[in-house]
Amino acid sequence: MQKRVILAGGSGFLGQSLAAYLTQRGYDVVILTRGGSRDGQPIRYVQWDGEHLGEWAREIEGSHAVVNFTGKSVNCIYTRKNREEIMRSRLQSVKVLTDAILACENPPQAFVQAGSLAIFGDTRALCDEESPHGTGFSVEVCQRWEEAFFERELPLTRKVLLRIGFALGKNGGALEPLMKLAKYNLGGTVGSGRQYISWLHLDDLNEMLLWAIEKEKMSGIYNATGPNPVTNKEFMRTLRKVMNKGWAPPAPSPVVWLGAYLVMRTEPSLALTGRNCVPKRLLESGFTFRYPDLEEALRDLIPHASSAEMPR
Ligand SMILES: NC(=O)c1ccc[n+]([C@@H]2O[C@H](COP(=O)([O-])OP(=O)(O)OC[C@H]3O[C@@H](n4cnc5c(N)ncnc54)[C@H](OP(=O)(O)O)[C@@H]3O)[C@@H](O)[C@H]2O)c1
Repeated sequence: MQKRVILAGGSGFLGQSLAAYLTQRGYDVVILTRGGSRDGQPIRYVQWDGEHLGEWAREIEGSHAVVNFTGKSVNCIYTRKNREEIMRSRLQSVKVLTDAILACENPPQAFVQAGSLAIFGDTRALCDEESPHGTGFSVEVCQRWEEAFFERELPLTRKVLLRIGFALGKNGGALEPLMKLAKYNLGGTVGSGRQYISWLHLDDLNEMLLWAIEKEKMSGIYNATGPNPVTNKEFMRTLRKVMNKGWAPPAPSPVVWLGAYLVMRTEPSLALTGRNCVPKRLLESGFTFRYPDLEEALRDLIPHASSAEMPR
């Protein structure tokens, strides 16, 4: 029989990618969404509200694993309302999924939670899983999110929380706006350029998530990022190289502030801060990266960039 994996909040960037990865490997994938239920093939969508128990909880009974991607996107201006929703959507979804698992006669063997490396704040110090946390709103969200996830024991269910880095993929995510900037010769260094980007290729993240679902020895918190974080300056230089773009003017911090608020309608700190993280526990458990090198990762994701962007 096919193993059923439930992806809560699986309609987004990471969830859609994992759904495809799992179905290719023979899993039965069910996505919990606030959108309508629909019986797509091969993926089924089941409606929930991310806050209350309902019919959807039947899907958890007898499932192989639950992976939770739910959360209002942090890519917005941090008004009070948005901050509340960023926090609430994460804490409530963890709580109600825990309730649903506790109510099962035949609970899933694994509960995997998407967390974030933002817990380390804005730092250039090398961070592994044991490093001190930072300060500020994003850090507080991550801490409360992790506390909520580990708060209640699930006797028959292994818990894994992946603190995910800057995931690079083809359709969406944080790479898309950077590619747009580079396309219009605006892909220069952002701010000081010394803030780190702890990046990873989506294929590597999907494999980590598969490990978290399947490997009995995996438990607790992991930094889910590549082994070679780079500074923003290096990231932008490599992106320009892969897109066959020459030098581009740097965007000093005040310009980034204005551009973020007025044009991109998002929080400037997302581009101006960063962290230098390593996947210590994953490497210790023998995980190997398909894309440890940034240039190779970008060449895989932007395959026709060089020829399409050649000057005529
Ligand atoms: N992408 C990255 O590089 C990255 C890095 C670090 C951490 N993460 C974390 O990983 C998780 C998934 O990331 P993603 O990039 O896939 O995010 P995403 O594309 O924004 O998808 C998140 C999903 O959560 C659901 N959602 C949004 N607001 C909600 C709300 N108020 N209440 C309930 N559900 C809500 C949405 O599903 P429906 O509309 O279908 O309900 C949405 O598709 C997020 O928690 C994110 O913070 C992502």
